[in-house]
Amino acid sequence: METGRIPNDFVIVAELDRKIIGLLLLIFYYRFDEACPSAWIENLFVLKAFRGYRVATRLVDLAKELAKRRGCKALSLIVGLRNLAGLRFYRQCGFKINKAVGLASQELGNRVPFCPGEGQSATLGRR
Ligand SMILES: CC(C)(COP(=O)(O)OP(=O)(O)OC[C@H]1O[C@@H](n2cnc3c(N)ncnc32)[C@H](O)[C@@H]1OP(=O)(O)O)[C@@H](O)C(=O)NCCC(=O)NCCS
Repeated sequence: METGRIPNDFVIVAELDRKIIGLLLLIFYYRFDEACPSAWIENLFVLKAFRGYRVATRLVDLAKELAKRRGCKALSLIVGLRNLAGLRFYRQCGFKINKAVGLASQELGNRVPFCPGEGQSATLGRR
């Protein structure tokens, strides 16, 4: 696994035979309300053929390690409540799911310039 560093973002990739089979986008930011650095997982994705081999577990473990080293108090993310695999996965990794928090977002009218095909990795092209 390698980490490619951009200022407060890390794209952590899992490779097999020089092909990316999984990735996690980790973002660091400062929480003014809690006066401490915090970390956020924006994307986590493993190619279908490679699921079930603990690839995502290793990506999250590395994200946790980096977040600890940066002094973050928490590592957070959003997972769809209908994404049963995702929910089970994150619980298995030690996350607690807070079902009371809503997602707020607003379309800004920009076209996504790059869409690799498999659902939620579509935001990749904007980073
Ligand atoms: C969720 C996802 C990242 C898991 O990747 P993975 O590499 O297959 O996960 P792991 O092999 O590390 O799984 C670890 C544990 O998570 C749970 N888990 C993972 N996939 C699961 C599934 N499809 N159904 C139920 N539990 C699952 C299991 O408890 C598993 O442990 P086990 O194999 O001993 O039962 C992958 O399915 C994926 O890319 N899904 C599409 C994108 C997505 O939903 N991302 C996360 C939400 S933002």
